[in-house]
Amino acid sequence: TRQPIVAIDGPAGAGKSTVTRHIAQLLNLMYLDTGAMYRAITWKVLQSQISVDDEPAIAQLVSGSRIELIPDQDQIRVLIDGSDVTEAIRTQEVTRNVSAIAAQVAVRRGLVKQQQQLGRRGGLVAEGRDIGTHVFPDAELKIFLTASVEERAKRRYLELQQKGDLNTSLEEIKQDIIRRDELDSNRTIAPLRKAVDAIELSTDGLSIEQVTNEIVRLYTEHL
Ligand code: C5P
Repeated sequence: TRQPIVAIDGPAGAGKSTVTRHIAQLLNLMYLDTGAMYRAITWKVLQSQISVDDEPAIAQLVSGSRIELIPDQDQIRVLIDGSDVTEAIRTQEVTRNVSAIAAQVAVRRGLVKQQQQLGRRGGLVAEGRDIGTHVFPDAELKIFLTASVEERAKRRYLELQQKGDLNTSLEEIKQDIIRRDELDSNRTIAPLRKAVDAIELSTDGLSIEQVTNEIVRLYTEHL
């Protein structure tokens, strides 16, 4: 027997990370950010001389990589082969390349295995694109978080502005989000999809607190 699992899936910029972090704190669950793992691999590929479509070379890179997710106050530090890439995996360059790499069979096979290993005892909330459909299909609670593309682009834009990136326009961010959702939804292996038993929540016009409270309510109701 294992502890409960909450799966949170949805498109880019729907507010998954912030909401998932809050839920983990409130319900005292481990937080598993699977997107960070795909980003860490992408970062390593971009650092190397390997081309993003060299699948055999990337497959080898994945099997020779060690990813660690380490809780640190209210965030998670991401390490690959011992280097801290927490900030480095959030750049536009990584964001623009991650979906092509995450579509590759060996990448998914390797990372999903690690995710399932990390979650074997349960007691976690996992965030991604295929958690409810593939990684933890038996999760007790599955949430599919959405929002209009305008709203999602606006949120990312404000986030970047706060980080001091004043060079990326709202329109550019919107196009990147549309492209990434398209790649994630149309890939062959474990595409972004709402699980049949997932509860869809649109976060348009809702605060982080409202969304968090609703999921906590659903959790209490479902368990
Ligand atoms: O959630 P985040 O934006 O950090 O995810 C980055 C990318 O990683 C996604 O656009 C997707 O291509 C990939 N990903 C995935 N499966 C997951 C989580 C993320 O394919 N479970």
